[in-house]
Amino acid sequence: MAIKVQDILLQNEFSGTDLSVLLNSTGTDKEQIFKHAARIKEQFVGQKVYFRGLIELTNRCGKNCYYCGIRAGNKGIERYMVSEEEVTEAARYAYEHRFGSIVMQSGERTYKKYINTVTRLIRKIKEVSNGELGITLSMGEQTRDTYKQWFNAGANRYLLRIETSNRELYYKLHPDNKKHDYDHRLKSLHLLRELGFNVGTGVMIGLPFQTFDDLANDLQFFKDWDIDMVGMGPYIEHEHTPLYKFKDVLLPLQERFELSLLMVALLRITMKDINIAATTAMQTIDSNGREKALKAGANIIMPNITPVKYREGYLLYKNKPGLKENSDETMKKLENEILSAGCQLGYGEWGDSKHFTNRSKL
Ligand code: 5AD
Ligand code: SF4
Repeated sequence: MAIKVQDILLQNEFSGTDLSVLLNSTGTDKEQIFKHAARIKEQFVGQKVYFRGLIELTNRCGKNCYYCGIRAGNKGIERYMVSEEEVTEAARYAYEHRFGSIVMQSGERTYKKYINTVTRLIRKIKEVSNGELGITLSMGEQTRDTYKQWFNAGANRYLLRIETSNRELYYKLHPDNKKHDYDHRLKSLHLLRELGFNVGTGVMIGLPFQTFDDLANDLQFFKDWDIDMVGMGPYIEHEHTPLYKFKDVLLPLQERFELSLLMVALLRITMKDINIAATTAMQTIDSNGREKALKAGANIIMPNITPVKYREGYLLYKNKPGLKENSDETMKKLENEILSAGCQLGYGEWGDSKHFTNRSKL
């Protein structure tokens, strides 16, 4: 007899097979999953949506991930670095608009000078916000000393996506060399945890050669690693990248989007109290993508507050939205989306992952 989705949802723990069944569900089964995820979200994290002001600090990157538009090998783009004054100004904007925190994201750079600049920026952001803005970094794999330096300067969260939990698939997405070593990625996640960061990771959904079983394993990876925050979204091909040649084997964009929504819902069901981002990649495919992600179980939004003049430079994938609108316009739209998704605006609160807080109490 076929296993019923409803019966699986009553369980507290889910096997790989359970997750694969859930990922393959359609029609009313799928609706049941979304309803269940919404109930769990309400019960465990509530309806508040927290804001993280995203600053895309630089598009310079030492790596060559096959899917990414700002990879070192893409010689067709102009490289930029946001100035310290502009970062300070963006942080002030976030503080005045009562965002919980700032996310500084960039390509992976490991030069001493860059590391020290980031340290200075962390201190500066703390200073202009009376120590109130939380600081999240997303700057790739670094040494323990670097992570520690940034943590000591005041960064308290770190996002490092694993991209896929399937090692073989990972090497189809990255060059097979020391700079793109899968075990080093895992080690870095481990270091971040050990140093006391709130740790976030994530994957891309709808990658070439990715199977539903891979996605089920991704969900299990988050659980096994006891992750505090997740940002995941559809893979969107970029024509100036090596992976573009597989564009014909991909699921249609709309299906990648639907699958991402289902992943968000299943993640909420499997890891009830973590923070889950409604990502820009979801918004790229569907103009109501973020709203739909919030309804499916996400509770974090990351408005882009990078100065507008740099935004064209940070195109990880094509058709990224919000390149021209300023932060005020972005915010108005977002507030409407959040309210129409039946959620509340979590202004003036850090909105730490409840999972992290609960874990720290153990
Ligand atoms: N499509 C979707 N997401 C992408 N990223 C990079 N390139 C793409 C793409 N083509 C995501 C990766 C990376 C994050 C910064 O952006 O998951 O970790
Ligand atoms: Fe660099 Fe990150 Fe893009 Fe890889 S995904 S090329 S590390 S910016």
